[in-house]
Amino acid sequence: MDQNFSSNTTSRKDEHLKICIEKDVKYESVASGFDNYTIRPNILTEISPDDIDLSTTLLGKSMDAPLLIAGMTGGSEKGKEINKIIAKVCDEFNIGMGVGSQRAAIENPALTDSFLVRDSAVNIPLFANLGIAQFSSGYSVKEAEKAVEMINADGLTIHINPLQEFIQHDGHKRLMNIQQNLKDVVSGCKYPIIVKSVGTGFSKEDMKYLSSLNIAAIDIAGAGGTNWKKIEMYRNPSLSDLSSSLINWGIPTADCLVNAVDVFAGSSKKIIASGGIWNGMDAVKALMLGADYVAFALPALLAISKDSEAGLRKFIHNYILEMKIVLTMLGVTKLEELRKKKNLLMRKIPH
Ligand SMILES: Cc1cc2nc3c(=O)[nH]c(=O)nc-3n(C[C@H](O)[C@H](O)[C@H](O)COP(=O)(O)O)c2cc1C
Repeated sequence: MDQNFSSNTTSRKDEHLKICIEKDVKYESVASGFDNYTIRPNILTEISPDDIDLSTTLLGKSMDAPLLIAGMTGGSEKGKEINKIIAKVCDEFNIGMGVGSQRAAIENPALTDSFLVRDSAVNIPLFANLGIAQFSSGYSVKEAEKAVEMINADGLTIHINPLQEFIQHDGHKRLMNIQQNLKDVVSGCKYPIIVKSVGTGFSKEDMKYLSSLNIAAIDIAGAGGTNWKKIEMYRNPSLSDLSSSLINWGIPTADCLVNAVDVFAGSSKKIIASGGIWNGMDAVKALMLGADYVAFALPALLAISKDSEAGLRKFIHNYILEMKIVLTMLGVTKLEELRKKKNLLMRKIPH
């Protein structure tokens, strides 16, 4: 790839899609951490995957499984097409979804259309999306509420990704007043807010700060899945000398989740686990560790690039089937019973 990267938001988002589809954008030396755990199967199980009920609720809406496709796109024709497919398939499975950053449409309302999915996703939990970087550059509660109302969403996800910003050649190099901005938008916005990392995870200290805010949920988006430092390196090969330690820096999702469960214990705030949770087995491990929901992004995009709507349908069908098979082998038919089986989740490698 040459260095002719674009600084325009729409082209940048399309470049991200292209790189994610064509290149290996996964972490190299960091894994999500779920392989460090194993679940003891009960082979004398007397129930069937057909008996399993994965249903739950999110912000008062019912879902048939505790799953979300995390926000990825919008702001271009390609993004519009992908959002429509995600909305249609999520609606079929009655699971949640987010759109990608709506900055492009806030700056250019002609692009709004590419984020409008409510017609296909009538009843599912749907989340708007903005980056905290925009709040360091002047956005306020007004833009936060505008993003939600633009797509008739149930809440707003605010993503935080300083490492990507610092590596991205046209990224924000100083995230001014980030803590105060978060506090202001969370307390001022009339819609529920989810605060999310983007594949780097959150430290315990950062999560303690977030737990003091009136957020609805945290999406930990830990390391081990999509690596945004790597994606920015593909866009700008002049950065190829950056060390592998920097590029692969992040908190493995499973470790981040364990800390999140500790920090948010006893609070009504929900925990969404994401970051390399790309199969039903890992999703169940995340739920056993204490996540309320599981989200994923890149595998959904790859499934769409392979076989459009049918590809995504097949991926989600198999993901849910795998979850149901694992629950069957644990002898539990409902999610509420799953955490009581935590003793069947063993850490292979001690801390
Ligand atoms: C192509 C692509 C675009 C993304 N764009 C956004 C975005 O606009 N806003 C956001 O909060 N996260 C964005 N993400 C990050 C995902 O929501 C998710 O946090 C991250 O990819 C980790 O999940 P994964 O390992 O399942 O991909 C994007 C991910 C991908 C793959």
